[in-house]
Amino acid sequence: MKINSICCIGAGYVGGPTMAVIAQKCPGIKVTVVDLNESRIAAWNDTNLENLPVYEPGLDEVVAEARGRNLFFSTDVDKAIEEAQMIFISVNTPTKNYGAGKGMAADLKYIELCARQIARVAKTDKIVVEKSTLPVRTAEAIKTILDNTGNGVQFQILSNPEFLAEGTAVQDLHNPDRVLIGGHQSQAGKEAIQALVDIYAQWVPQDRILTTNVWSSELSKLTANAFLAQRVSSINAISELCEKTGADVSEVAKAIGMDARIGSKFLKSSVGFGGSCFQKDILNLVYIAKSYGLHEVADYWEQVVIMNDHQKSRFSKNIVKTLYNTVSGKKIALLGWAFKKDTNDTRESAAISVATDLIAEQAQVVVYDPKVSEGQILSDLNYLEKEDLQHIKVIANPYDGCKEAHAIAVLTEWDEFKTYDWQKIYDSMLKPAFVFDGRNILDKQQMKAIGFTYVAVGSSS
Ligand code: NAD
Ligand code: UGA
Repeated sequence: MKINSICCIGAGYVGGPTMAVIAQKCPGIKVTVVDLNESRIAAWNDTNLENLPVYEPGLDEVVAEARGRNLFFSTDVDKAIEEAQMIFISVNTPTKNYGAGKGMAADLKYIELCARQIARVAKTDKIVVEKSTLPVRTAEAIKTILDNTGNGVQFQILSNPEFLAEGTAVQDLHNPDRVLIGGHQSQAGKEAIQALVDIYAQWVPQDRILTTNVWSSELSKLTANAFLAQRVSSINAISELCEKTGADVSEVAKAIGMDARIGSKFLKSSVGFGGSCFQKDILNLVYIAKSYGLHEVADYWEQVVIMNDHQKSRFSKNIVKTLYNTVSGKKIALLGWAFKKDTNDTRESAAISVATDLIAEQAQVVVYDPKVSEGQILSDLNYLEKEDLQHIKVIANPYDGCKEAHAIAVLTEWDEFKTYDWQKIYDSMLKPAFVFDGRNILDKQQMKAIGFTYVAVGSSS
C-alpha cells in the first residue's frame, strides 16, 4: 500500500519535529499534525519561526521548507483522521497521578481518547501507529477499542517508538541509529509494516530499519530509556565515591569508556537526569514488572530513579553545607533551567528540585536560562506557597543575576556559560565566591585561578 496522506495526533516535542521531518523528506505525502491545544497549533503556524512552540536547532529550517507545501498544523482532528490512511498517535503518556498505579503507571487516558475518536470518525481502513511511548501490550487495548467501537473498517496497529533526544531532535531524525517498527505477523500486518518502512526508506538506509513483533517494539522503547538512564545513575553513583576518595569522575568515565564494550557515551556525571521521559518510563517499567509479580526486576530498575533523586538532593545539600550550613537570605544564582542544553523543555529538570530545596532553606534564588521564559519557570514552581515564590526571581541578564551573589550553581550545560567573562562575574560577587558546577563544564583551573571556590560533581579538589 502506498501512503499519500498521514495524520499525527499530538503536536508536541515528538509529533511536531517528527512529522516535520517526514514531510520534508517525503514531499509526495500530505502530513497534517493536529492537537487540541489551540495556542500550540497557532504557534506551529506562526510566520515568525522564532515562535515555534518547540525550540530545536535546525527545526525552523525544516518547517520553513515543508509547511504549507505538504505539512499542515490544525485543530480539526476529525477531518485529519478522516482524510489520512495512516494515523500516528503522539500524545503525552505521563505518570498516573491518581488511582491504581498512582506515581508509577503510565496514564493512558489520552491514548484511549485518541483510539475512541479514530474509531468514531474513520470510514476507511487505517493504519494506526503508536508513536507515544507505551507500556508493553498497549496495542492490544487500542485494537480492542477500534474493533469494538468502530464503523466496521479494518485497522492495523503498528508500534513505531521514537528515539530522538531533545536538543538534537532534527539531527536524530535525519540520521537515526535505527528506526523500529513492530507489527503483527499476519499478511495484513506485514503489509502495514511495509507501508511504514517505505516511508522511512526515503531517507533512512534499509539496514537501519528494524522490524519486529509489536510487543518487542513496545518493550524495546522502555528498555532503551531504562538502559540510558541507568548509565547516568551508575556514573553519578561513582561520582559520590570519587568525592570521598580523591578520584575524579571525568577521569574514571574516560578510563572505562575507552573499553569498547562499555563505550564512552552517556557517562557524564551531573546534578541528575531530567526530562519528561526517563523517570516516567522507568517507573512504568517497574510498575509492569510488579504487575507480573517480578519484584526483583522491579526493584532493580527502581534503584535508577532512587539514585537520581539522591544525586539531585545531595547537590542542594552540598550547597547549603558549603555555605556554612545556612543559605537563608543569601542570593544564589542558578544558571540554566532547561533539563539539558539546546532545548526549552523544563519537564522534570533537576533545576526544579534544586530551586525547591534552596527556597525551602530561604535562599534568594535568581534564575537565568537562555531559552526558558519567566512564565515557564514560575509555572514549574507553582506548587509552592505564595510566600515561597517571593524567594525566586527570573532575570534576563546573567551578569545582573550573579551580581552580589554568594554562590552560582550551573544546572544546564548551555555552551554560552563557558564563554562568560568569569573574572567580571567574580568581581561583582560577594566573597568568598562559590561556583557549584552541576555539569562540570567550566575550566576548574581557570576558575580557581580567578579566585572562585569551585565545586564540581565527582571530584574533591
Ligand atoms: P507533549 O506533551 O509535548 O505533546 C503531546 C501533545 O498531545 C500535547 O500538545 C497535547 O495537547 C496533545 N494531545 C493530548 N491528547 C490529545 C488528543 N486527544 N487529541 C489531540 N491532541 C492531544 O509530549 P511529547 O514530549 O511530544 O511526548 C509524546 C510521547 O512521545 C510520549 O509518550 C513520550 O513518552 C514520547 N517520547 C517523547 C520524547 C521527547 O523527547 N519528548 C522522545 C521520545 C518519545
Ligand atoms: C532521552 C533519550 O536519549 C532518547 O533516546 C529518548 O527518545 C527520549 O529520552 C525520550 O524517550 O523522551 P532526552 O531525555 O531528550 O532523550 O535527552 P537525553 O540526552 O537522553 O538526556 C536526558 C537527561 O540525562 C538530561 O537531563 C541530561 O542532562 C542527562 N544526562 C545525559 C546526563 O546527566 N549525563 C549524560 O551522560 C547524559
